[in-house]
Amino acid sequence: MSETDLKNNLLPPPRHIAIIMDGNGRWAKQRGLPRTAGHAAGGEAFRRIANYCRTLGVKYLTVYAFSTENWKRSEEEVAGIMRLLGRYLREALADMEKNKVRFRFFGDLSKLSPELQKLCMDAQNRSADYDVQVNFCLNYGGRDEIVRASRAFAADVAAGKYRSEDLTEELLSSYLYSADVPDPELIIRPSGEKRISNFLLWQSAYSEFVFMNVLWPDFSPGDLDAAIAEYHQRNRRFGGT
Ligand code: IPE
Ligand code: IPE
Ligand code: MG
Repeated sequence: MSETDLKNNLLPPPRHIAIIMDGNGRWAKQRGLPRTAGHAAGGEAFRRIANYCRTLGVKYLTVYAFSTENWKRSEEEVAGIMRLLGRYLREALADMEKNKVRFRFFGDLSKLSPELQKLCMDAQNRSADYDVQVNFCLNYGGRDEIVRASRAFAADVAAGKYRSEDLTEELLSSYLYSADVPDPELIIRPSGEKRISNFLLWQSAYSEFVFMNVLWPDFSPGDLDAAIAEYHQRNRRFGGT
């Protein structure tokens, strides 16, 4: 792989990229704007990067939009985020044929408003035939996901479908929100924070992490190119030599 290959992005992108969309609040603060303005700008960044991923031929894009811990924020901020999500989903539904993106939602949607839940279900159902898949993590927590999967498996054992010793890594994976989705090769966290914040705990076992100082609302296609270039320079060993 030469410098030129990296610059021109000639290497194939990873099949699955996951992004912790962080830094909206700081972006707004820097501009003296309310935090919600940062989330609106973050929504635009998502549109931009999802489109760019489609152009690059990335098959799966998983984005962390709202965590199980984000309910700790002020009522005003949570309501603002929910309002923006509703607006985004309504627009995505109207533009479905143009964008050709398949939506899936990871997380406990039952805590969202009935209206937002319906928009999520409509987006998921109406986009089922498209190739590029966006996994939207909403009220998502990695620990919560594993607890739910464990409960569901325990219920199947109680119902006689499995014995406890039938449980394998593959079988547990099939109970996760991410069932049928390959693990992300690359996880990007903008905003300068270097932690996982309860994102894809199971699926990230061998993911490459790229932490970047840019705030999410400023994240550009060039930043994605840089993260992919960095990914290509890593030597992935999966425990081997
Ligand atoms: C990420 O940006 C968006 C959500 C968590 C919903 P933040 O709102 O966490 O932005 P910072 O980290 O405060 O800058
Ligand atoms: C992670 O960011 C969640 C999302 C980006 C949706 P946070 O801003 O909530 O994470 P912490 O609190 O800095 O760890
Ligand atoms: Mg944050």
